[in-house]
Amino acid sequence: MSVDFQALRRQFPIFEHKTYINSCAYGALAVGVQEAIEQYVQERRMEGALWGPWITKYEQVRALMAQVLRVTTGELAITASASAGMNALASAQVFNRERNTIVISDCEFPTTAQIWHAQQSRGAHCVHVPRAADGTISVERFAECIDETTALVVITHVCFRNGVMLDIPAIVNIAHARGAKVLLDCYQSVGALDLDLHALGVDFAAGGMLKYLLGTAGIGFLYVREQLIKEFVPTHTGWFAQAVIEDMAIDRNEPAQTARRFEAGTPPVINCYAAAAGLQLLLSIGTRSIEERIRGLTEHYRMRLHEIGWPAVTASSTARHGPLVCVAARNAAGLVEVLAEHGIVTSQRDDHLRASFHFYNNEDDVEQLIAVLRTEHSAHAA
Ligand SMILES: Cc1ncc(COP(=O)(O)O)c(C=O)c1O
Repeated sequence: MSVDFQALRRQFPIFEHKTYINSCAYGALAVGVQEAIEQYVQERRMEGALWGPWITKYEQVRALMAQVLRVTTGELAITASASAGMNALASAQVFNRERNTIVISDCEFPTTAQIWHAQQSRGAHCVHVPRAADGTISVERFAECIDETTALVVITHVCFRNGVMLDIPAIVNIAHARGAKVLLDCYQSVGALDLDLHALGVDFAAGGMLKYLLGTAGIGFLYVREQLIKEFVPTHTGWFAQAVIEDMAIDRNEPAQTARRFEAGTPPVINCYAAAAGLQLLLSIGTRSIEERIRGLTEHYRMRLHEIGWPAVTASSTARHGPLVCVAARNAAGLVEVLAEHGIVTSQRDDHLRASFHFYNNEDDVEQLIAVLRTEHSAHAA
């Protein structure tokens, strides 16, 4: 069944006045997501507290998120951010003398590295896997760093700096063969790529719902593979992490038997409203169709960049990148500003201009961006 992407684009009012190519920073706001937020405000205004329906909404987010990741609801914690989920996971890690190394790729988002560096005061030892000059990290580099002392390998799916996608199944194979677990930060791929966490084989995964998942800031998830849940007892906890929330016990900590044990306090209810609406929209299109649509757009953009003599620094094959395509720029922040003057919203990291595509973008967006880049080439191309 073919998807009417032009009709879907009309659900995102920002395109009436801007060319928005910045989903790696924040997804565009859909009318349905705005309405969901307004519904929550209305409920508060009219009813005060509606805890029954609000908890149902929070469980709905878990169920929708499980569909997106193709995992079970019991394997998911709904958290306030990707960092919150990873901190809860870190609090459950026991570092012994035999296995205390955390192997961290140099493609990580700061939080995903900082949280593991913070565990050094609890006995962890961090080792980094460097990026090559082209921004990628080969599987061989991981093989050199992972050994029998490795407790955890921390990898990102799509690098926020340059758009490069790591070879997750190959890295997982190496890690597992040496007895290490794998945490995947899939924040920059979830919602844009068709994910199946069981098939990828990772042990843990974290992300948030404000980018390609179309929700809002203030809500994220942590996936923990079912067989591992009971092995990990977080000390970062709270009443929503307990086996029976309604118990209200103050004489013990009894973690849930599911990944909910990695949660803490009251769920971010308003964010659950936004997230549920975003996830429903995403699932109604299907992540396979979305990935295909994005691949078409990134391929088109890369081809047009090549034609104007400013080739992407992001890997040359779509198998090695996701929705984010970068070009090297002498003054990337200045270039973002020039583009903004033309109504084109992008972002920058390091010396890279980031253009990130979602199903609501189209080839006209690419052409608008290319038209400005063509005129800015001599001033900004690095
Ligand atoms: C790849 C990646 N990981 C982690 C984060 C941080 O997530 P949070 O702020 O939800 O902890 C971001 C935020 O942009 C990100 O892009």
